[in-house]
Amino acid sequence: MKVGDRHYRTIWLNEDGRAVDIIDQRWLPHEFRVVTLKTLEEAAIAIRDMWVRGAPLIGVTAAYGMAFAMANDPSDKALDAAWEHLHETRPTAINLKWALDEMRAVLGPLAPADRLEAAYKRAGEIADEDTELNRTIGTHGLEIIRKIAAGKKPGEPVNILTHCNAGWLATVDYGTATAPIYLAVEEGIKVHVYVDETRPRNQGAQLTAWELNGHGVPHTLIVDNAGGHLMQHGMVDMVIVGTDRTTANGDVCNKIGTYLKALAAKDNGVPFYVALPSPTIDWTVKDGVAEIPIEERDGDEVALVQGRDASGNIIQVRISPDGTPSGNPAFDVTPARLITGLITERGIADASPQGLLSLFPERQ
Ligand code: MRU
Repeated sequence: MKVGDRHYRTIWLNEDGRAVDIIDQRWLPHEFRVVTLKTLEEAAIAIRDMWVRGAPLIGVTAAYGMAFAMANDPSDKALDAAWEHLHETRPTAINLKWALDEMRAVLGPLAPADRLEAAYKRAGEIADEDTELNRTIGTHGLEIIRKIAAGKKPGEPVNILTHCNAGWLATVDYGTATAPIYLAVEEGIKVHVYVDETRPRNQGAQLTAWELNGHGVPHTLIVDNAGGHLMQHGMVDMVIVGTDRTTANGDVCNKIGTYLKALAAKDNGVPFYVALPSPTIDWTVKDGVAEIPIEERDGDEVALVQGRDASGNIIQVRISPDGTPSGNPAFDVTPARLITGLITERGIADASPQGLLSLFPERQ
């Protein structure tokens, strides 16, 4: 997508063909910084400390991390150690494990001497595939927006609420939840997006708002607690969110607070859609609440808020008393019964085992 006049992906191969450049998302929206990753350890830190984040982008970064490891040591032992090291960086988004398994499945059978080139090739393919999956998700989601737009009075926008950042910054390009929105805008459909700020790390306020601004998409930033009120007053036509892991039964794990939005949507008859590429489906898990590991992050993410001061410096300020402990579960699970549909690259499925299997019959 665009940053100024230039097209960017969130991750791209450096000119030397070995390192990768990423947008360091910790500084947005205040500063646009690009950093270079070239070692396994740098890739692991970038994922763990959220220089890159969002389930699909975490997966692609991990794939390149495996390639960096092969440049250093292409042995079986190093391959397994790299898989383990990257896997433990963030526990909830299943795209991480999916990408690591893909890399190991390609590299494992090869002689060590052939692994390096194969690793860069597969990592590059995973990045390209992600872009294509998201573009296709966009075309399916666009159908829903078109239908809602057709029922609105002329000139009235379709009001869409989204949570966290499931935009192009969370993927390689397009985003998942945002892909239908960008395509709708391209088609000339009037849309307006309510952006949840998404405490504690404010991915909505800092990332989604920055993206939408950059693409001229009308939007309004709201506090996380405002969504229910807006829905009660008929101000939201649909909700679209992304997901870090969706179960074979259609339960959706996503950024903390998603569940509350789904409850409010159900209570107010607002359609609640989840956009996801198939690598986000964990076919081994049925009950999302019982089985998905929820990442518990540092309590300082709750107690400290980052922003830019009047002098232009990026600073952190403490908003709670010294000594007050903070809890920070980073994700929650929205049960399938609250979800109107799952927008995948193969079409829109009911959030149910039958719904998903009808689109992915090979998983029978
Ligand atoms: O903790 P984050 O910022 O990695 O969480 C991101 C989300 O929860 C996104 O909504 C999800 O990964 C879907 S991204 C297409």
